[in-house]
Amino acid sequence: MNENLKRYIELIPKAELHVHIEGTFEPELMFEIAQRNNISLKYNSVEELRDAYKFNNLQDFLDIYYSAANVLLYEQDFYDLTMAYLRKAHADNVIHTEIFFDPQTHTERGVSFDTVINGITNALKDAKTEFGISSKLIMCFLRHLSEQSAMETLKLALPHKDKIVAVGLDSSEKGNPPSKFFNVFNQAREEGFFVVAHAGEEGPAEYVWEAIDLLEAERIDHGVSSVDDPDLMEELRDREIPLTVCPLSNLKLKVVENLKDIPVKIFLEKGILVTLNSDDPSYFGGYVNDNYLQTAEALNLSRNDIYTMAKNSFLASFITENERSIFIEKLREFENSFV
Ligand code: HPA
Ligand code: ZN
Repeated sequence: MNENLKRYIELIPKAELHVHIEGTFEPELMFEIAQRNNISLKYNSVEELRDAYKFNNLQDFLDIYYSAANVLLYEQDFYDLTMAYLRKAHADNVIHTEIFFDPQTHTERGVSFDTVINGITNALKDAKTEFGISSKLIMCFLRHLSEQSAMETLKLALPHKDKIVAVGLDSSEKGNPPSKFFNVFNQAREEGFFVVAHAGEEGPAEYVWEAIDLLEAERIDHGVSSVDDPDLMEELRDREIPLTVCPLSNLKLKVVENLKDIPVKIFLEKGILVTLNSDDPSYFGGYVNDNYLQTAEALNLSRNDIYTMAKNSFLASFITENERSIFIEKLREFENSFV
């Protein structure tokens, strides 16, 4: 790619809106934490572990992702995990990030909700001071578990309402439609949380409809299968429901065969608020800038396309209108001064 566009992508201020903190767990840190917690990993080295990162579908990945999370036991572990991600995000000129965490992955094995959220939020606070990075936290329910379990998790979150901006839905999509979680999302909205949901990653466009109409999701994570349904595309544009697309994730989990098949250009042309994100960067071979760079290369994106998606990332963020105008002003200043 043209050197100038590459630098533009690297330097442009952006928000990341789809990243799972458990998916930022780099093998080096995994081994370090496993050792200090006296837990043995199935793999003998960082290289051997990385070698296992060959996935045929979402479930293949989830099996490794959940088993890696088993080494996280203490507040310090969650702190270190989060801090490591924030350092990488800052290096990519991410100035605002909205991070998913999966409390059930930890509470199911006896780690308390408080341990998880305190470790994460202490890192968010320190990174704000150290790097000036702004952040929000989104709690995801695991869709392969029951709605009852999600409801119990929501109850655990209520004392921490001030630290969580939204609820989301992740894990194995096929066979676990958004409608399975109708009641818990209703309850979460009544408690004042914003709502997002993974939909249309491996699942059909129908799941995106369910997410926006039944769960009233204000943003859709992935949503790439929306491209199969012209009426849905119109609906997303008219209702200004953003999509958090994760190209390298879709490639590594074989949602698409080739990055050229990611419908980012189609969403842009339709006027849908599409954004680019890393999902689980330590597993999928790249952080947010890698996603921008490789997508730009594959789809021949223009500088204007990149600007639009960076702007979309702020338009789609769960921040105050005052914060939004500050971020967009930063973006404009960058645009005007970039040579
Ligand atoms: N899809 C569903 N669940 C997930 C993902 C994903 O890409 N990453 C982490 N949990
Ligand atoms: Zn995801």
